[in-house]
Amino acid sequence: MFNSKITGLGFYVPDNVVTNDDLSKKMDTNDAWIQERTGIKERRHVVKGDGDTTTTMGVKAAQIAIDRSGIDKNDIDFIVFATLSPDYYFPGPGVLVQRDLGIKTVGALDVRNQCSGFVYALSVADQYIKTGMYKNVLVIGSELHSHGLDMTTRGRGVSVIFGDGAGAAIVSREEDTTKGILSTHLHSEGQHAEELSLIAPGMGKRWVNDILEDNDPNDESYFPYMNGQFVFKNAVVRFSEVIVEGLKANNLEAKDIDMLVPHQANLRISQFIQKKFGLSDDQVFNNIMKYGNTTAASIPIALTEAWEMGKIKSGDLIVLAAFGSGFTWGSVIIRW
Ligand code: UT7
Repeated sequence: MFNSKITGLGFYVPDNVVTNDDLSKKMDTNDAWIQERTGIKERRHVVKGDGDTTTTMGVKAAQIAIDRSGIDKNDIDFIVFATLSPDYYFPGPGVLVQRDLGIKTVGALDVRNQCSGFVYALSVADQYIKTGMYKNVLVIGSELHSHGLDMTTRGRGVSVIFGDGAGAAIVSREEDTTKGILSTHLHSEGQHAEELSLIAPGMGKRWVNDILEDNDPNDESYFPYMNGQFVFKNAVVRFSEVIVEGLKANNLEAKDIDMLVPHQANLRISQFIQKKFGLSDDQVFNNIMKYGNTTAASIPIALTEAWEMGKIKSGDLIVLAAFGSGFTWGSVIIRW
């Protein structure tokens, strides 16, 4: 058995900064409400027509991660792409990355686990590497939310939260089994699937043909729905559980954490977790203030920024944790 190690990180966000005041010109909201409830000051939105898509942002983040890892792009053995906002209904963005990076015909897998997507994707990469099947796996989390949000007062409970961006990691074989990804822990509870969901277009409740036939401007089923308070309550419980589970599996305690990088769902959720585990400000990384909630991209963007700022050093214990639609949640324990 080998271990797997993150050897390169990169992120990309579009240049276009959208402030809370900008949103208040489109819907009945305000800077005070958004900051108080979520901690978000601004987020990035792709400008329509400028060429950025979930895939292209993922490719830009991946290129940085590849360069930093020092591998040749043709040393990549497998691609795992996590998103809830793919360019196409099918095929998924994994194959588009293989094409756009111009790499050989390696396998490409798409992960559909929303806010937990990057944690799930990292777990997949980790298992392939641990068993010896692959040496270098490219893992991407990327989202283009802004073109699919209800930017009217009707959608304000959801649309002020989400932002666009991408993050990527190269996960490589590590011979030293005391270093790298120590363990991953994944969960789901489909009972609450519809509490944070986008129902249409789908082949279940809202068929594509129905939508075309009805052409109903009041149809909200193709905008994301979130039962905010219910999601919040579940998030704080599941975040805590899965962090404890990961620490216990490695005979570690909260005081051993050098850096917790939580999925950037809501600053209040991160602060709750920080308090619960008695962590200092230096032990938790947050950047939701600048980028909003970028679902599958949020952890790799935050991890990259923390690393770029010198907040992650060799030998540190890094904990990643996520919760989101599904419900799905998970954690990753890393000895850097
Ligand atoms: O990343 C995946 C996981 N997602 C999460 O973890 C998100 C979890 N949930 C949350 O972060 C919070 O529930 C929200 C930020 C979404 C909402 O905050 P809240 O404190 O739960 O507010 P609320 O939904 O209970 O709404 C409170 C009030 C309502 O008005 P009334 O009924 O009290 O008059 C809303 O209509 O705030 C109103 N409201 C807004 N007002 C201004 C909802 N959205 C907005 C808005 N601007 N954007």
